[in-house]
Amino acid sequence: MKACRTIASLRRALAAAGDRPVGFVPTMGFLHEGHLSLVRACRKENELAVVSIYVNPAQFGPAEDLQRYPRDPEHDSALLKKEGVDILFMPGDTEMYAPPFRTWVDVRELDSKLCGRSRPGHFRGVATVVLKLFNLVQPQRAYFGQKDAQQALVLRQMVRDLGLPVRLRVLPIVRDADGLALSSRNVYLSSAERRAALALPRSLELAKAMIREGEARSRALRKAVEAAIAAEPLLALDYVAVVRLQDLEEAPRIEAGNTLIAAAVRVGKTRLIDNLLLGDLSC
Ligand code: PAF
Repeated sequence: MKACRTIASLRRALAAAGDRPVGFVPTMGFLHEGHLSLVRACRKENELAVVSIYVNPAQFGPAEDLQRYPRDPEHDSALLKKEGVDILFMPGDTEMYAPPFRTWVDVRELDSKLCGRSRPGHFRGVATVVLKLFNLVQPQRAYFGQKDAQQALVLRQMVRDLGLPVRLRVLPIVRDADGLALSSRNVYLSSAERRAALALPRSLELAKAMIREGEARSRALRKAVEAAIAAEPLLALDYVAVVRLQDLEEAPRIEAGNTLIAAAVRVGKTRLIDNLLLGDLSC
């Protein structure tokens, strides 16, 4: 595996690899099985597998966890080597945002709903860094996790709007044995918080069971998920949304193949998200 810290060395590594179809997994590191599921799919479906690790400051708000975001580049690098990744790109801030940096990507409407309400500017940071990474790596396929469903929808819109020659593959959420969706931020949780956090996947399981039994009213589903979360005193609800994929708006009834049930909560200082997807985010 070739590890590159600069854009120039990434370009050299890509050129040396020749004209082979490139798969790309952008990450912020502190890798878990969710990331590795993306890496494995990327390896399987492409001749050249490129992974980036970059904790992107532009997607963190001023009061968010940028400084304490978990990092373990040596361990990540060993994991990726073992998975057979060809190129690892680990740029620094001056490489990605050389001053004066003045170009930003706004994916309007989709960026200000759901997580965008409590994290203003977050999706602008994500879209900007991902577009830059796409330009540098020039992948045919890029891999993202469904846990960040709104991120996938924002990026899908960006790819469509700008005619980017990349296919987005959005792969299922990977969960721990207890049901909690894997996230690098789970390390922040105390054992009591972790137990409380399980109300989040349970609330979505409840929605799934209600749908199976014929419930199709968005409001009824949203209220049931909200109530299941509210029943856990250690959880503070950020939002529950039962929305269409194209505009993240709630329709009176859910539509098979076109519905996202997403929720975000705070447990102590940690913000967690999870979702149930009726549809496909890949494009
Ligand atoms: O999902 C993430 O880890 C990040 O938002 C991404 C896509 C790597 C951009 O920084």
